[in-house]
Amino acid sequence: MLTGLLHTHSLLRYILLIFILLSIFKSLSGWFGKKPYLPGDKKVALFTLISAHLQLVVGLILYFVSPTVQVGLANMGEAMKNPALRFWSVEHISMMIIAIALITVGYSSAKRGKDDITKHKRVAIFFLLALIVIFMAIPWPWASEAIRRGWMPG
Ligand code: HEM
Repeated sequence: MLTGLLHTHSLLRYILLIFILLSIFKSLSGWFGKKPYLPGDKKVALFTLISAHLQLVVGLILYFVSPTVQVGLANMGEAMKNPALRFWSVEHISMMIIAIALITVGYSSAKRGKDDITKHKRVAIFFLLALIVIFMAIPWPWASEAIRRGWMPG
């Protein structure tokens, strides 16, 4: 189960990154080009929201079945001194939850925006902030040796 979940979680990262980049590109060009907020713009933002929430669900399950997290949670004091245990038990989950909250707030506040430029602006700002946080919390192959993972689990 752990392997299947890790593969799903790892793959979903790319889907989420594609949708969030597309949303940011569309909303920045809508904002600066003073374009209407079209149903297509809303749809891409919605797909970003859905993939972020799916990632949250898979991540939460992983959190409770991951042997690394269990070691970290069993002794938080020691885990804080170990970069890998600290990353998986505390840093990854908290940064990703912040990012997903930013996406959620961005999407729903855009819906309530009084005009199209406000909607574009809200998606652009909130999603860009979320992207920065997500990018920092992914265990990329170039991250420190303690936390780095491959492009795909294996
Ligand atoms: C934007 C959201 C997220 C992204 C892009 C993301 C990305 C990743 C990636 C790339 C991995 C490494 C997979 C591999 O081994 O190849 C991973 C592992 C993991 N993630 Fe996430 N994640 C996200 C959100 C979350 C959340 C919200 C949680 C917890 C609630 C979480 C918990 C975990 C756990 C427990 C692992 C595996 C630790 C282990 O190997 O034992 N993730 N994540």
